[in-house]
This record gives sequence, structure tokens and C-alpha cells, in this order.
Amino acid sequence: MTDSRTTSARLVLTSEAQTEALGQRIGEVAKAGLVIGLYGELGAGKTALVRGLARGMALDGRVRSPTFTIASLHRGAVPLLHVDAYRLDDPAELALHGWQEWHQEGVIAVEWADRVESILPARRLRIDLAHGGEGLRQGQIRLLGEGRGDAIEDAFLAAIVC
Ligand SMILES: Nc1ncnc2c1ncn2[C@@H]1O[C@H](COP(=O)(O)OP(=O)(O)O)[C@@H](O)[C@H]1O
Ligand SMILES: [Mg+2]
Repeated sequence: MTDSRTTSARLVLTSEAQTEALGQRIGEVAKAGLVIGLYGELGAGKTALVRGLARGMALDGRVRSPTFTIASLHRGAVPLLHVDAYRLDDPAELALHGWQEWHQEGVIAVEWADRVESILPARRLRIDLAHGGEGLRQGQIRLLGEGRGDAIEDAFLAAIVC
């Protein structure tokens, strides 16, 4: 039997608000164990998406592109670990930021995920964003790794419902 399940979707986001709304949809269904890798150049909208994610998870605190911080933790019923790997020299450094614990207990969103790919779990969401002109961002969301009916699949399905 052919498995016709969708595992990727194109993203066309015509405003920052739309990118935040995408993050929010994911946040509204987010459960512990959800890992999101965000890929894209500076200004592609990675932080905007994480801001929406935090809102959807009903978390307080400002989400921003940290200049010198590698990880910020937003506490809540389900905590969010927001990682910006841009300045990370070695993926192993993430262990110092509680990576293993949060991987089990919370949601992890990683900007510049290409820099820490070696330690990301196989089962995760991959979101690519790219500049597409003023106000426009295009990209793709992909469900990676084997599994069904888990936090990752729930988040993926919520993301592609518009
Ligand atoms: N469709 C869009 N989605 C997200 N951000 C957008 C969009 N259009 C324009 N922008 C602008 O692009 C910038 C995105 O910044 P940010 O989310 O910090 O990017 P990154 O974290 O990828 O470096 C913001 O200044 C935002 O206002
Ligand atoms: Mg950023």
C-alpha cells in the first residue's frame, strides 16, 4: 500500500504577522518532545516564527534574536528552549544549556539549525525560510524521521492548516 501521507508543505508568508501566525498554530498544539530546526539567512523570519510559537504556548517573556545568548528558556506549563546557534563553535556546547533535559521536558526551537545538525534528533520539524521580496518569505516545512501520532506530527499538521 502506498503511503500518501504528506510530509512537507510549501510556505508562502506575505507578512511578519503571517510568519508569527504559523508559529502560533504550532505553539497551540506544542507538547514536550517537539523539536523545530529553523534554517534561513539573517532576517529570514526565524525569530518571528519563534515569537508566534511562544505566544501559541501561552508563554510570557520577550522572544528576540539573542546577540550574545545562545539559549533562552521561557518557563511555562510546557517550557520553550529557544536556541540561536549562530555563534556556537561546537554543537556539544549545547549540553551546557540543558539540551538533554529540555529535549525530554519541553519544546526546543533552534535558529541556525545547520550549525548543530549533528546533535538534532532525527525526528523533528525542519522549517526553511528565505527572503522572497519585501514582506514576503517563502520556504518549506518538513516532517523528518520515522513515527506517527507524536508531538512532531501534531505540530506539523497544525502548521499546514491555514
Ligand atoms: N513575511 C515575513 N515574515 C517574517 N519576517 C518578515 C516578513 N516580512 C518582513 N519581515 C521582516 O524581516 C525581519 C525578520 O527578522 P527575524 O525574525 O529576526 O529574522 P531571523 O531570526 O531569521 O534573523 C523582521 O524585521 C521582519 O519585520
Ligand atoms: Mg533570529
